[in-house]
Amino acid sequence: MSSKPMIRNNICLNSHPQGCAEAVKQQIAYARKALDRGSDPGIPRLTLVIGCSTGYGLASRIAAGFGYGAATVGVSLEKAPTATKSGTPGYYNNQTFDAEAVKAGLAVRTLNGDAYADELKAETIRALRETAAAAGLPPQVDLIIYSLASPVRTDPVDGVLYRSVIKPIGRAYEGRTVDMMSGKISIARAEPATDEEIAHTIKVMGGEDWERWIRALIEAKVLSPSARTVAYTYIGPELSWPIYKNGTIGRAKEDLERVAKAINQALSQAALPSARAFVSVNKALVTRSSAVIPIIPLYVSCLFKVMKAQGLHESCIAQIARLYRERLYTEAALKDPDQVPVDPQGRIRIDDWEMQEGVQQETRRLMEAVTEENILKIADVAGFRHDFLETHGFEVAGVDYEADAASLSPSS
Ligand SMILES: NC(=O)c1ccc[n+]([C@@H]2O[C@H](COP(=O)([O-])OP(=O)(O)OC[C@H]3O[C@@H](n4cnc5c(N)ncnc54)[C@H](O)[C@@H]3O)[C@@H](O)[C@H]2O)c1
Repeated sequence: MSSKPMIRNNICLNSHPQGCAEAVKQQIAYARKALDRGSDPGIPRLTLVIGCSTGYGLASRIAAGFGYGAATVGVSLEKAPTATKSGTPGYYNNQTFDAEAVKAGLAVRTLNGDAYADELKAETIRALRETAAAAGLPPQVDLIIYSLASPVRTDPVDGVLYRSVIKPIGRAYEGRTVDMMSGKISIARAEPATDEEIAHTIKVMGGEDWERWIRALIEAKVLSPSARTVAYTYIGPELSWPIYKNGTIGRAKEDLERVAKAINQALSQAALPSARAFVSVNKALVTRSSAVIPIIPLYVSCLFKVMKAQGLHESCIAQIARLYRERLYTEAALKDPDQVPVDPQGRIRIDDWEMQEGVQQETRRLMEAVTEENILKIADVAGFRHDFLETHGFEVAGVDYEADAASLSPSS
């Protein structure tokens, strides 16, 4: 196995076990400093994260576990290493999370499997009961984070495998994109989605599965009366709307908002009047999923330049720590779930710093000025590349890659 990243078209084909482990430990250190359970009993004690291994889901689990001391159950779909290939980054992240949680005396269970399947939901409910028992807690989950990003879903009802696509609706889209390794700019073109592609993307990335999870938890009577469930979404600047917000993925995200209302109704019918479902709009960050969306790498490179210069930049873990501390679990919100700060559409906004007019105006100016000659100077392509490499365990501070090259083995 190589200790060097193998990257093609903004996709990284390998990962570095020690680097992934170190990056998780750095997020844990951040969460420990940024959050504190204090003595408030309303802070989560038993958390379920669906999509727990990378990106926003991993940060959500780290923040609940190491920030608030919660017992956590995590679900994700990751690949173990083979004789010739490294495992996926999330595989190593989960291993490290579990080992560090055990060291810290936190109850923990991680399940690897298809979160869309009913069998895995049933297995997760058993794991929640067992994890609660191990932690000496009642079997009541009080925070459920839904953070899946997947290209496919087999619907457990009709058995059909649906595929999601990232396409515009109505007319073709052309946008500039940047190769993060070379800084080369190219035009990405996407043809408009068919009605079937729109419907299938909603099937995969919409809210149907989130609702199925919450209904399964209600039925199993494992929800705390004050449970909060949050699904993540993105809106972004107008220049990305043809491919994102007004495209297939945006339709799926709209469906999440519909489902949040349906879940809230189901919660009140289930006599859980203080339980709530929220959609949280998060900031654009470099994760395995976001690097392959046209225009996003170029936008994020310009955005990061501006947000870093203005002292507003946040990592995944910083975003989630702020979500917990300043939205879900403020003093007022702990007493009354209707005090969670939301926008007029009922959504939590932690993309507020990204969407500030001063940030957006300056980002637009950079995007208009960018050429292949000046991009490395005026945009933060290096920062984008660094974050991307780091999510695969490369370029992580504190890891000696030369020394580790010799010791890398498929099972390490
Ligand atoms: N990255 C961004 O810039 C950004 C911004 C705002 C909102 N979001 C949203 O946050 C959510 C998470 O995105 P991310 O960028 O952190 O993604 P990610 O690719 O880093 O993580 C996706 C997670 O889903 C899991 N997963 C995928 N298919 C699965 C399956 N069938 N069964 C079980 N687990 C499965 C993966 O194992 C992983 O844990 C998405 O809803 C995304 O739209 C992302």
